[in-house]
Order: sequence, then C-alpha cells, then structure tokens
Amino acid sequence: ETKVITTTIELQQLTTKLKNDQKTIGFVPTMGYLHEGHRALLKEAREDNDVVVLSIFVNPLQFGPNEDLDSYPRDFEHDKQVAVEENVDYIFYPSAEEMYPKTLSVTVNVQKRTDVLCGKSRPGHFDGVATVLTKLFHLVQANRVYFGQKDAQQVAVVDGLINDFHFPLELVSVPTVREEDGLAKSSRNVRLSDPERMEAGILYRSLAEAREEMIKGKTDINQLRNRLVADIERESSGKVDYLEVLTYPDLEQPKNLSGRIIVALAVQFSQARLIDNIIFDL
Ligand code: PAJ
Repeated sequence: ETKVITTTIELQQLTTKLKNDQKTIGFVPTMGYLHEGHRALLKEAREDNDVVVLSIFVNPLQFGPNEDLDSYPRDFEHDKQVAVEENVDYIFYPSAEEMYPKTLSVTVNVQKRTDVLCGKSRPGHFDGVATVLTKLFHLVQANRVYFGQKDAQQVAVVDGLINDFHFPLELVSVPTVREEDGLAKSSRNVRLSDPERMEAGILYRSLAEAREEMIKGKTDINQLRNRLVADIERESSGKVDYLEVLTYPDLEQPKNLSGRIIVALAVQFSQARLIDNIIFDL
C-alpha cells in the first residue's frame, strides 16, 4: 500500500522509526508529472531497498523569475497511480508553505561546476536544487538516492553535495529513458506542439553524431559544435541555448581529447526548454 505524507514532522518521525527498525530506505526525489524516466528510478530503488520513498515537490527555489514555475505540469492523481504501480511505500507531497514556512535563514551555495551548461544559463538554479535536497536528505534519512543521467550536471552537483556535507548516502545514477525517436522523456515534453515534437528527435541524433565523430577521432570541436547547432536550428524551430563538449564529471574544457566526455545541449522551443546529453569514453 502507498501512503501519502504531507508534513515534514510526520516524514521525519516515520523515517526515524524505519532506521531504528534497521530498514534500508531508497529515495527518489522528483517534481512529479511522472513518466517512464521516473519509473526507471523507482524500479531500481524498489530492487535495492526495503522501503521506497518518492517525493513530489515543484521546488520554487530552483526556478528563475522568468522560468516556468507556474506552468510546470502537475497531476497528482496520475502520479499516485504510478507510485502504486511501482510499489512505492511512501509519497512525500508537501506544499510550498510546508517546505518553506518562512524565508530560509541558511541556503546552500554551489561553488563548482555552475559556470557551464544549465548553471550558466539558469543562475541560482543549482543553489535551489542543493538547498531543497539538503532538506529532503535530512527528512528522508535514506541509504540510497536515485538520479537520472538525463540531468547529468545535477548528478555531478549532487555528488559534490553528498561528499562535501557528509551525507551517509549512496548516489545511484540511472541511464536516460528515451522515446522511440531518441527524445529523452521529460515532464516538459507535453508542452511541445505537434510539429515541434516531430522535429525534436534531432536533439538526440545530434548528440549521437557528436559521439560517433569524436570516437572516430575528430579533434576540431568548435567546427563540430557549429555544424550541430546549425543542423538543429535548420531541422527544428528550436533555438540552441548551449551545445558544449566538456569532461565528465568535472565539467571542464577538455585539454586533450581523452577520458570521459559529455556532450550536452539545451534547446528552447516555443513553450519548453529541453535538455539532453550523451556521455562516453575516448
Ligand atoms: P525532475 O525533473 O522531476 O526529475 C526527477 C528525477 O528524474 C531526476 O533525477 C531526473 O534526472 C530523472 N529523470 C527525468 N527524466 C528522465 C529520463 N528520461 N530518464 C531517466 N531519468 C530521468 O530533477 C528534478 O526533478 C529536481 O531538480 C529535483 C532533483 C527533484 C530537486 O527539486
């Protein structure tokens, strides 16, 4: 049976009892509007732990002033159904007032890896993510926490948070779940128009092409980037916000083309900004 918890007090009392009973807890933090990507995280958590906690909270702190906080898609009844199907034990579903009853007197500030990719185009975004996760990690007291590689920069930032603040947590990162044409599943995909949805397969095709060319030995990264940006903007109505080639997980400019590489992009469509990435070894 799946139980819904809406208060921080209730959640902390529950997880403290579970810890005392020696239960292992797997935690999947989300903003809801659950899809196959979230299900993949829930399935892994279900396999690895005695108890699975899913949080659903659209975190105002991680949205910029001109971003889509108010229009972020929400459907709690659907999400609850998904949670039941995936054998989730507890859904933590707090209100914004419950999580932030007053302005926080302390927030978390991410120092590394925020000058690139989404950190650069969404100032303050990862501070908001790290702050809400710090609260959630304390409340849930999990043994393992599950994140999707679709948000690869988030995985790298959270890895830093867990290490630097000594959370006794194992971070498990789960491969990106995709549609048939390669488009990464995302809650925001519903805000693509029909023609935009048809075009959006070009995002993953471009990432796969970048991987292929680099594995074949292409060294002129700027030329590759320019060509892929041009391809995407010709074959879709999206506008490329960034397309970068960096080391992973440090997210630095690659000095020599060897080791683990990420090619990551963000593309703005009329009502949705989509991100995706591909990670491979050279
Ligand atoms: P949200 O966008 O709801 O994503 C929740 C988790 O699902 C993240 O770890 C994300 O990487 C993963 N996910 C999303 N799409 C996926 C896909 N196609 N394949 C695999 N995993 C996928 O990320 C957030 O929420 C928030 O920033 C949060 C961590 C909850 C903090 O507020």
